[in-house]
Amino acid sequence: MKAILLAGGKGTRLRPITHTSAKQLVPVANKPVLFFGIEAIRDAGIHDIGIVVGDTADEIRAAVGDGSAFGVRVQYIRQSAPLGLAHAVRESRDYLGDSPFVMYLGDNLILHGIRALVNEFRASQADAQILLAAVPNPSSFGVAELDENGRVLRLEEKPAQPRSDLALVGVYMFDRAIWDAVAAIKPSGRGELEITDAIQWLVDAGRDVRSHLISGWWKDTGKLEDMLEANRMVLDTFATDVRGAVENSTITFKVVIEEGARIVNSTIRGPAIIGRDTVIDSSFIGPFTAVSHDTRIVRCEIEHSIILENSVLTDVPGRICDSLVGKNVVVGPSDHKPRAYRFMLGDASEVRIF
Ligand code: TTP
Repeated sequence: MKAILLAGGKGTRLRPITHTSAKQLVPVANKPVLFFGIEAIRDAGIHDIGIVVGDTADEIRAAVGDGSAFGVRVQYIRQSAPLGLAHAVRESRDYLGDSPFVMYLGDNLILHGIRALVNEFRASQADAQILLAAVPNPSSFGVAELDENGRVLRLEEKPAQPRSDLALVGVYMFDRAIWDAVAAIKPSGRGELEITDAIQWLVDAGRDVRSHLISGWWKDTGKLEDMLEANRMVLDTFATDVRGAVENSTITFKVVIEEGARIVNSTIRGPAIIGRDTVIDSSFIGPFTAVSHDTRIVRCEIEHSIILENSVLTDVPGRICDSLVGKNVVVGPSDHKPRAYRFMLGDASEVRIF
């Protein structure tokens, strides 16, 4: 069995971060979301992974390489344009051949992996298997209606009047029946080839489409609040591990301090992670915060946030909460008169001031 891992797309919901970076490389607890996907696929016993890439191909390639660091073989599939999940499947045909395969969305995080799901599909001889989760807001997802045996009757993409609360989670399994389906469907109202339409085509053609209800935690990290929730969930699985230097500071609860980091005159209250070679000086880093590597935080308070690498935050007067700060960002005081806020913000940036 092979897998395709989708790491193209537009990433509009995570702008401005995605103006310059792939959203699948934004770290959750200091590890790119995409790496969780690679590991989940590998741990399900699949070692051939085609990564579907778009405009951010170079960055994804630089991060993942040939996959050997993860114990898998990676090839890259360049999607001609981000025209939908079923379009990504179509363009993976040469890579996949007639092999059954897993399709895994590169911005999804499934805490307990996909091994059971893959084993179930392997044993089932089904034509397709989808993963479902009950959600409070089904209209934001693809929604499935099932019969009493768990067979899929109907799928709808982001329906205004959902027929159930069962949302499609970003992991799908297909056998070669999918090739006729993705060839037959037409673009939806939003101009994309929808995977829900391809699966509905299989159902209408009398194919065996099964579903598996997920029991553990999962998240589509396509938006900021979901990214922060994923960060929370993963940080909470950590145990304290201090590999950096801690001077005159208080470290409480689950805190990971990576090699070369220095914590001086500060309080770190976990769950939290401080990346390698980062300096935290005279600051409070509160629960559910991940600070990436080579960052400098001086006289600041930060809680429930993700701070990316090479950023410098100094003397911010209020507490920073619920925030995602990109790479190479500088936030700090100004000596210039008049006393004023001075910004240079990328397109679609968001700053909230009280
Ligand atoms: P989405 O999050 O559904 O789409 P998107 O990345 O375009 O984001 P947004 O809605 O914010 O504009 O995509 C799920 C995953 O699939 C994500 O990792 C990107 C990837 N993808 C592709 O590789 N090719 C595509 O054509 C699309 C639509 C998504």
